[in-house]
Amino acid sequence: MRGWIVPPPKEPTKSREKLKEERQKKIKWLIRHRYLRSERIRDAMLMVRREDFIPLLYRDYAYLEVPFPLPGAEATISCPHSYPLFYEPLGLNKDHKFLEVGLGSGYGTALAREIVGRDGLVVSIEIDPLTFEFAKRNLERAGYNDILLVKGDGGIGYPDMSPYDRICITAACKEVPPPLIEQLRCGGRLIAPVIERGIQYLVLLEKSDKGLKEWTICEVLYVSLRGRYGVTEE
Ligand SMILES: C[S@@+](CC[C@H](N)C(=O)[O-])C[C@H]1O[C@@H](n2cnc3c(N)ncnc32)[C@H](O)[C@@H]1O
Repeated sequence: MRGWIVPPPKEPTKSREKLKEERQKKIKWLIRHRYLRSERIRDAMLMVRREDFIPLLYRDYAYLEVPFPLPGAEATISCPHSYPLFYEPLGLNKDHKFLEVGLGSGYGTALAREIVGRDGLVVSIEIDPLTFEFAKRNLERAGYNDILLVKGDGGIGYPDMSPYDRICITAACKEVPPPLIEQLRCGGRLIAPVIERGIQYLVLLEKSDKGLKEWTICEVLYVSLRGRYGVTEE
């Protein structure tokens, strides 16, 4: 039971033009519903073609508020509103060094790359080899060749490029993996779905020399984090 209804797979029929129209409408909807506020995130969402990150048989549904299954054991491309839901409170911005745990389709990664710009850096880690290859192909085809893609357990982070200005975990965890907090720069922020008594909450952390400040944003529904800090140990 996943908690959402996925429309039936079908051969794609929509033109690029039609999908562009749907993308522009979706952005207006996100602004109207106050998910999307900053110009940089809006421009990135206008720029990146979400349909290029969706499995072919779901491509026509790219702008529906539905997460779609991806190749791999337990991966989905999240629904469109999830990206500003995470990136707005995170304050993801120009020049940031950004770590994403859970590459999925690569769509959120491409958005992040547009937001941080050419002087920023995006590192993304995916644990599932099939999902990893799917995302890598999508990103290459869309022309994103300067993102550091790592196949492995994102719970242990990627210390080589730390400290990060911003970290985003796109799978639900019991607690934020301690290595990720370590790899966050002082003054940096991390966002993640965290499970408390069976319910997932989107939690924002800010690190300072005095410790961690924490805010709970809303309830969410994400696939579970795997690996060493996963919900069920592997
Ligand atoms: C909700 S999906 C990510 C959606 C993605 N943001 C997108 O735009 O398509 C969560 C992803 O986290 C991955 N994942 C789960 N545990 C992980 C871990 N320990 N390290 C790295 N990736 C992990 C899953 O395989 C899945 O691809």
